[in-house]
Amino acid sequence: MNLRLEEFKEEVRRRNDIVEVISQDVPLQRRGQNFVGLCPFHQERTPSFNVSPERQMYYCFGCHSGGDVFRYIMEVRRLDFRGALEYLAHRVGLTVPQADLSPQARRLLRQKARLYEVLEAAAQWFEDALRRPEAKAARRYLVGRGMTPETARRFRIGWAPGEWSALAGALGPRFGMEALAAAGLVLPRRQGEGYYDRFRGRIIFPICDQQDRVIAFGGRLLGQAADQAKYVNSPETILFKKRSTLYGLGLALPAIQRTGRVLVVEGYTDAIACHQGGIDYAVASMGTALSPEQAALLARYGRQIFIAYDADGAGQAATLRGLNQLAALGDVDVRVVALPGGADPDSFIRQHGIEAFQAMLEEAMPLLDWRFDLARQRHDEGTVAGKVRIVAEVAPLLAQMPRGAAQSGYVETFAQQLGLPASALWDEIRKLGAGARAGRAGHKTRNGRDNNSAVNGRTAQWGLIERLEQSGGAEQTLLRLLLHYPEMGVRVWDEMAPDEFSLPEYRDIARTLAAVGAGSHPDEMEERKSVGHTVLDSVTLPAARRLVARLAMQEPQLPGDPEEVLGDLILGAKRDALHNQHNWVAAEIRRLEAQDQEVPIQLIRLAMELERRFRELQAQGTARLSYRPGKSHNRPDQTSTDG
Ligand code: UTP
Ligand code: MN
Repeated sequence: MNLRLEEFKEEVRRRNDIVEVISQDVPLQRRGQNFVGLCPFHQERTPSFNVSPERQMYYCFGCHSGGDVFRYIMEVRRLDFRGALEYLAHRVGLTVPQADLSPQARRLLRQKARLYEVLEAAAQWFEDALRRPEAKAARRYLVGRGMTPETARRFRIGWAPGEWSALAGALGPRFGMEALAAAGLVLPRRQGEGYYDRFRGRIIFPICDQQDRVIAFGGRLLGQAADQAKYVNSPETILFKKRSTLYGLGLALPAIQRTGRVLVVEGYTDAIACHQGGIDYAVASMGTALSPEQAALLARYGRQIFIAYDADGAGQAATLRGLNQLAALGDVDVRVVALPGGADPDSFIRQHGIEAFQAMLEEAMPLLDWRFDLARQRHDEGTVAGKVRIVAEVAPLLAQMPRGAAQSGYVETFAQQLGLPASALWDEIRKLGAGARAGRAGHKTRNGRDNNSAVNGRTAQWGLIERLEQSGGAEQTLLRLLLHYPEMGVRVWDEMAPDEFSLPEYRDIARTLAAVGAGSHPDEMEERKSVGHTVLDSVTLPAARRLVARLAMQEPQLPGDPEEVLGDLILGAKRDALHNQHNWVAAEIRRLEAQDQEVPIQLIRLAMELERRFRELQAQGTARLSYRPGKSHNRPDQTSTDG
């Protein structure tokens, strides 16, 4: 990162208080020096997710995720660092400096930034308009539909007045008509000069991207009108591509992350009704058949995809096409919520309550079963021609499945229910097989596999952190002390080298602490905070980053003045480090011996050397050790350092 960007990053960090940012997604409560809440990264009933206002870091004692405000946004919104920086910059009204880009790219970014600005201003203007006296009918309409004021605020619902140029008149002077036209907010008059508002006399639903930036609007009439469309939407712009947008995704992401679930509905009001009822992982595809881009987004974020479309009448063909998109993704678990004829989630919830809808969700049928049932309703099972048609409808989905127990299971069951030999279905599948599988394989490497390895990677790290925790002892206490009082580094690094720590993660942290400690002015609280952030940015091992966040959550618990116990603590850390390493080497030797394998002579020498140094320290220590933090554990089950 260049210097300008580095400074910019710090500016963004300074202005985005981590407690405020996280509070957008997670209700937090004060507990001691920290705030706590339910972790957005795993499912839990009692809060183990901690946020430190002082350190500006978070850490979950349940799943061990942790870091600073940038890391939080990266994880919860699945953005890269750049994306998180843009998100947080935008949140406080800053724009990322664009030094290293081509002129064209810079121009496009400028255009986009301008568009965001115009759209945000328009969203605020619509929101304000909803609160004006003239919008009473609109407010009454929303109340009549059961939308609470909190929900309206959360979804930034607005009102476009009925006049021809209310918005044009309000924002035109500030941004210019061309800018409003480029944002899709106004249209040129057919006769004469000037522009008129696209949205008139409509409830406004702002459509946002994953980073909660407004990119378009949908506008609904208060009632029905024979001569006007129920909804008017923004046109496509450089920001708004309907195919790759899911309404409500930004708001739903934390819940999707937490539950692994995502519920797809068709309409704005359906998504909103679900959120209001607490099903906050709902998104809307906005009417048309689910596009491949939308399907890919869903599979990227959710492990279990529920779809609650109105499967009746005109929408059916589109629904089926949408479902095929999802089925084509392969590895994801897709379930269909079978709403009674004609109902959409919003009307169902209003009529039967959110619990009834929740129950339908829990009973949702796997896509393939649902598809089979539907085919049987559509065709006459009693005739050979009908059976052939049913088979023709389900065979492509079966052919897309990976070979294995599930596929065979479905084939057998379906064949049996149709009164056909399974071989008849297998023949169909084989005919379709080659093509369908080739398509699926391409998808799998793009989606499924990446996802899985991310999950596995995380689980593996949890194991390691658990172990770090157990082996805690004086080494961790010393690192914790240095994170909170970096000025003590001067003395520590005189007596102990960063490489003396036992685990690679400790050494990673110790090295960066030693490097930053040298130049710090510890009297300033701000400086202390920034030492933690610098260490966070500089460590290279992911497990080390999590450990830093964890250590930052709590000041060290020491008996008395840190200055006074520092000598003992250093000694204790050295001893724990040697003890741990000796134990690991000894365990490795025992393992080799138990397996009748040759033990390398270097390993035996190392064990002896570690033991010698340990005894030396021990002797030196007993003379003066007054404080003994923690103790090192003998862990015969842990045989490696996980380097
Ligand atoms: P619906 O007709 O199901 O409307 O269209 P709805 O969302 O249930 O709205 P209410 O309950 O009547 O108020 C579903 C979605 O299709 C898109 C919108 O995104 C809508 O939410 N749509 C529908 C349009 O874009 N234009 C239209 O004219 C109709
Ligand atoms: Mn509806």
